[in-house]
Amino acid sequence: MEIDLKGRSLLTLLDYSTEEIEYLLELAAKLKEKKAKGIQGSALKGKNIALIFEKTSTRTRAAFVVAARDEGGMPEFMGKNDLQLGEKESVKDTARVLGRLFDGIAYRGFAQENIQLLAGYSGVPVWNALTDQYHPTQVLADLLTIKEEFGYLKGIKLVYIGDGRNNMANSLLIGAGKMGLDFTIISPEELWPEKSLIQEAEKLALNSGAKIKLSADPAAVYQADAIYTDVWVSMGEEAQFAERIKLLSPYQVNADLIQQAENEQLIFLHCLPAFHNRETSIGEEIYQKYGLKEMEVTEEVFESKYSRVFEQSENRMHTIKAVMVATAGDISSIDE
Ligand code: CP
Ligand code: NVA
Repeated sequence: MEIDLKGRSLLTLLDYSTEEIEYLLELAAKLKEKKAKGIQGSALKGKNIALIFEKTSTRTRAAFVVAARDEGGMPEFMGKNDLQLGEKESVKDTARVLGRLFDGIAYRGFAQENIQLLAGYSGVPVWNALTDQYHPTQVLADLLTIKEEFGYLKGIKLVYIGDGRNNMANSLLIGAGKMGLDFTIISPEELWPEKSLIQEAEKLALNSGAKIKLSADPAAVYQADAIYTDVWVSMGEEAQFAERIKLLSPYQVNADLIQQAENEQLIFLHCLPAFHNRETSIGEEIYQKYGLKEMEVTEEVFESKYSRVFEQSENRMHTIKAVMVATAGDISSIDE
């Protein structure tokens, strides 16, 4: 069956089938190769792309901008102080205005409901650049990175350790469930994902052959092919540092944890930004207050031979480009 994603939004990976995700990963790999050869593309020629960011971003914003430009598109950034979104103007009205002007909209914000409204009312593809609930474009990059490393996805043992109920854990659950990974979330029970989402992932696993496991014991890292972590406190939750540090300190990715996996070939993944050294002002404030020197990952592991975090970062751009080209661009120009 020919895959055609034209006009589709990406609000969560639940919106896409296994075959469609596979198609996006293959397209991303092809676009990566094309860029390495220095070929300027035209799949997004004449397309105006709105980038609405209500939270800060380095990778995602930069990835959308460069990806759009590489294929001839014109990105326009709108930060949280630039729009009236939901404050002076309803999300529905803003969606209808932007939909008449732009050919695609990336949105980073808080509530998943906002991005659903944007997609429902703009009439153009809307891409989730991170909400409190999901971060689907990050997981596409993560899957591409794993595939590049091991050559395949099915059966790869991916362990996510840390805050088990944030946007990353949620989206990895869906991505792993769709693509047949052997996926474990290691987290204190208080921070396990919503039951309904676990059930959803278990349902996906019936079709894909994925394994979905939850554990409160860091020893469940045994024989991991990839160990993934994220910050202990996500954007918007800054009041919760004290509680999270208490809950998550036993779940730090450090040399001991890597050893417990007993797999020399394993890779370490993190969506970034990460608190792993003494070089950030927010980190320093927290370390001094709570007597720490690193948080979710130690400097030793972050800078080790296991780390693939910057490969992941780069892959944000190639996968986001694939999403924009497939849903809002001229896909036929890619094979020319
Ligand atoms: N991983 C990620 O989304 O990074 P940014 O917050 O810098 O966009
Ligand atoms: N869980 C993190 C991911 C950042 C890319 C956050 O939402 O802040």
